[in-house]
Amino acid sequence: MWLTTRGRVKELNLKQQLLKHLEDSGDNYLSGNALAKKLSVSRNAVWKTVQSLRAEGYEVLATTNKGYRLKSCGDVLSEEGIRKYIRNAGIFSVEVRKSVTSTNTVLRESAANGAPEGTVLAAEEQTAGKGRQGRQFHSPARHGVYFSLLLRPVTNANNAALITSAAAVAAARAIEDVTGVRAGIKWVNDLFANGKKVCGILTEATFGMESGQVESAVLGIGINVTKPAEGFPGTLESTAGTLTDRATGKDNERCRLIASTLDNFWEFYTDLPARKFLDEYRSRSIILGRDIYVLTGDEKKPARALAIDETCGLIVRFENGETAVLSSGEVSIRPQTSIHNAQ
Ligand code: BTN
Repeated sequence: MWLTTRGRVKELNLKQQLLKHLEDSGDNYLSGNALAKKLSVSRNAVWKTVQSLRAEGYEVLATTNKGYRLKSCGDVLSEEGIRKYIRNAGIFSVEVRKSVTSTNTVLRESAANGAPEGTVLAAEEQTAGKGRQGRQFHSPARHGVYFSLLLRPVTNANNAALITSAAAVAAARAIEDVTGVRAGIKWVNDLFANGKKVCGILTEATFGMESGQVESAVLGIGINVTKPAEGFPGTLESTAGTLTDRATGKDNERCRLIASTLDNFWEFYTDLPARKFLDEYRSRSIILGRDIYVLTGDEKKPARALAIDETCGLIVRFENGETAVLSSGEVSIRPQTSIHNAQ
């Protein structure tokens, strides 16, 4: 049994318990005997469980006469690891799973079953990660962070739309704090670093039919952290990037990215109408003042990105001189354009 950050009691299976003991002991070895006693199983069961952790990618060192420990400076994604770095510990209840279809999909089911605000689901890999506009989000094991946060805001659709923009700033700050990489925002909610997309955000909300108010919102964030040896599939290879060229993680960076994004986001979310994130959203924009295409289906309309308004809508001017405020959709930067100041 184990207590979550919200004090709820939860069963841990043998593998999770063993992992927790190894994480708690840090660089110190734990003997097979000691672990067997702690877990009330045989030494052989400990060994088998170590093998299955290794199969999941955990680097468990085994030394004769000493026992087991996790390789230090690793990047194991675990509940304990995330919890360790969260400042707002009482707010979030974090669960990490090895493999899910989509953290958004699974968390939406939990939401329908009454899970409370602050429930977080992170996964080592997603087999059907979802992107915006029905796209897939490539989510290979050990190379990224894929997590969703359940929200139950007392608000209407307009304010709910700000959730994604606030999350974009929160994730950009986290990326910078944890890795030192500067992340820019491509409207509406993609994060770019070194010219490539490194993070995507998908918020899925349900509304009350009568009230028109948000019943729940699942905020899903995916960040490409390290470079998969096999690269990205298909056309993603030219558009998707990673925070580092390393193939393996270090210094708990994925746990820290999740913890930092959650903490940053909470600061904005708790006072959403104040839009504390908006100035930074604008200053991180990589499209303001630039020539872009507004993409609608197969149509590509040339325009200039002028400004971002209070609702995070994008103000554009088309070539015929007309201006419009886009509240959702997709834009791309026109190649070989010079950067002008927004006006
Ligand atoms: C996009 O770039 O179009 C949005 C991508 C959102 C990906 C994240 S990963 C965690 C969560 N679960 C999903 O299935 N999608 C979001």
